[in-house]
Amino acid sequence: MDDREVGKMWDANADAWTKLARMGYDVYRDHLNTPAFMKMLPDVSGMRGLDIGCGEGHNTRLMAKRGADMTGIDIARRFAHHAAAAETEEPLGISYAAASGGALPFRDECFDFAVAFMSLMDMACHEEAVSEAYRVLKPGGFLQFSIIHPCFWTPRWEWIRNEAGEKVAVACGDYFGERWGVIEEWIFGAAPQELRDKLPKFRVPRFFRILSSWMNILAEAGFRLEQMQEPYADEETAKRCPDVADTRIVPLFLHARYRK
Ligand SMILES: C[S@@+](CC[C@H](N)C(=O)[O-])C[C@H]1O[C@@H](n2cnc3c(N)ncnc32)[C@H](O)[C@@H]1O
Repeated sequence: MDDREVGKMWDANADAWTKLARMGYDVYRDHLNTPAFMKMLPDVSGMRGLDIGCGEGHNTRLMAKRGADMTGIDIARRFAHHAAAAETEEPLGISYAAASGGALPFRDECFDFAVAFMSLMDMACHEEAVSEAYRVLKPGGFLQFSIIHPCFWTPRWEWIRNEAGEKVAVACGDYFGERWGVIEEWIFGAAPQELRDKLPKFRVPRFFRILSSWMNILAEAGFRLEQMQEPYADEETAKRCPDVADTRIVPLFLHARYRK
């Protein structure tokens, strides 16, 4: 599977994804990943930043609100369209373009930082995307990203439940599969059933990589690890949003910041 096919699939996902995410049903993003990511993010005010795989632009807007001069790119034209429409409604000085992280349409060393929220593992071109991020960063600039945790969300994966049906552990296998372009079909589980029934399921191509591959790709591009975290819901968040309580069992996401 190549970028063109990946882009087509995400184009088809974009309308329903944007609608549900903007209604608050992307609960792992809103209640766990984005708050933890933003807490880890250094001060970006006055900096020029790039959001790689920006989707409908929710997190791009948050960074612009922190004072960064933001550009967002996404392989899916339809996501770039929704993100640009939000910019027209509430101008924050963000520019959006449809482009691949694997071939960034920017000159060398023109960004102070780059971010990629839950997008690198969805790219057919991980390695190119990492080296492209390195190329467009100024010396001393950083790349901060979040991905699905490669160790705890493997190609073969299921929840183990107790007698009461509660999640208690994860069984994962086929770790070394590094399967390419596996299509997962799902929709935000937090959305009410009647709404889910009306919308097409997302078709998400996944590109599995083992942890050491990720580390090596980043090191070979020239990046130096600065900080890593495996966010999980605290007790208060788990009570407020029970959908994300399962992140207290194993880390489902990995966040890292690397420096050029
Ligand atoms: C899980 S969504 C995350 C979207 C957004 N960052 C967020 O957190 O809401 C993954 C995104 O990666 C984008 N994507 C996949 N392959 C890409 C590529 N090669 N270049 C740029 N974006 C890509 C998809 O179109 C999709 O918007």
